[in-house]
Amino acid sequence: MTGTAVAKETTTTERLQLRAFVADDETRAVVEQVVSDLMIPAAAIHRGTVRDAIQLLGRQRSPRVLVVDISASELPLSDINELAEVCEPGVSVIAVGDRNDVGLFRELINHGISDYLVKPLTPSLLQRSLLTVVEGGGAHSRQTGRLGRIVAVMGCRGGVGATTVATSLAWAIASRRHRRVVLFDLDVQFGSVALGMDLDPVHGLRDALENPGRIDGLYLDRTLVRHSETLWVLSAEESLDDPVRADRDAVGLLLHELQSKFHFVVADLPRQVGPAVQQVLQAANNLVLVSDLSLAGMRDAMRLVQLLQATNASCSITLVVNRVGEYRSGQIPKAEFERGVGRPIDLVLPFDAKHVFPLVNAGRPVASGNGPVAAALCRLADQLCGAKPPARSGWLAKLSALWS
Ligand SMILES: Nc1ncnc2c1ncn2[C@@H]1O[C@H](COP(=O)(O)OP(=O)(O)O)[C@@H](O)[C@H]1O
Ligand SMILES: [Mg+2]
Repeated sequence: MTGTAVAKETTTTERLQLRAFVADDETRAVVEQVVSDLMIPAAAIHRGTVRDAIQLLGRQRSPRVLVVDISASELPLSDINELAEVCEPGVSVIAVGDRNDVGLFRELINHGISDYLVKPLTPSLLQRSLLTVVEGGGAHSRQTGRLGRIVAVMGCRGGVGATTVATSLAWAIASRRHRRVVLFDLDVQFGSVALGMDLDPVHGLRDALENPGRIDGLYLDRTLVRHSETLWVLSAEESLDDPVRADRDAVGLLLHELQSKFHFVVADLPRQVGPAVQQVLQAANNLVLVSDLSLAGMRDAMRLVQLLQATNASCSITLVVNRVGEYRSGQIPKAEFERGVGRPIDLVLPFDAKHVFPLVNAGRPVASGNGPVAAALCRLADQLCGAKPPARSGWLAKLSALWS
């Protein structure tokens, strides 16, 4: 990729308004002219292809609008899918190509592309497309379903390990599967996510929950705390003498904003089912319910499963029992627990003080260490991500692209 930026390159954490990867000088000249005519403040134009876009955006923040040249692409749909894997979900993509083919256009739109422009590109064509995409971008990305997944984690009792599981899942998805993840601690008074990740909570979450009008991309940029290239944390440590009065719509708005920036929102939920927790449960794609093998855990797991089936039947539930073996004599047998809850246990995590405590005390996610708990949580993170995309080269990739 040979690239020049028409505007000063920003740092990896700042967001460009537009980034373009175009394969020839004529197309590049058109993009440059439109960027200058529309006075787009932060834009970068590169000589390159969709493959270069995939490489760069795997390491950097996605722009608001991405223009990619797919004319040299043998498998445009599988390239676009790969691009979607590395991009932030809410980005709008305009593809430029040399095939005037309605079938391809339709397929690209079905794969979440906002527009497909056929070369030779003209300034007016690109300008019109950009304006449509920017004006209707938010709505369009919603229509195409390009929003991050919400994984809610809830403990049936205090101390059963919900935060341990949430922190580990977020870490494993971000570090081992290289997806952009935000770990959202909804317990703004007693939450322990930031503590468990050795981060300082930032003020701002309370403000957003009480005044949802403040929630926008800029607000998030100020309030999210970065743990690594791919993992961010949203949490608070509000005083105990001043309860947070969350606005009914605030959590919904916040979730939507997070979903358009991250592939995964992992929400660590407090046990009180207030309006904020209800909103997350209604929007969640997965609920990871964590319990111990106690009578009270069994009763509350059953009640939470019933609540979810009534409010969000399409949400997939993973029932995890943790700290198994800690108090052998007080434990309910697994079969009895499953009968009581009315569904099978999906994952059994042993009590493992030897591996867990040193990591927790060092402010590191349990999944980043060794031992059976770490291994099992990494496997669960893999399940939540789905199968790894197939290798690109060879006949298998071509075959799978036919079905993609
Ligand atoms: N499998 C396990 N083995 C040993 N200790 C564990 C295990 N899972 C969690 N813990 C410990 O249990 C305590 C409570 O965990 P936490 O995740 O804060 O629970 P919750 O969020 O459900 O209240 C923490 O000290 C944590 O390190
Ligand atoms: Mg907790």
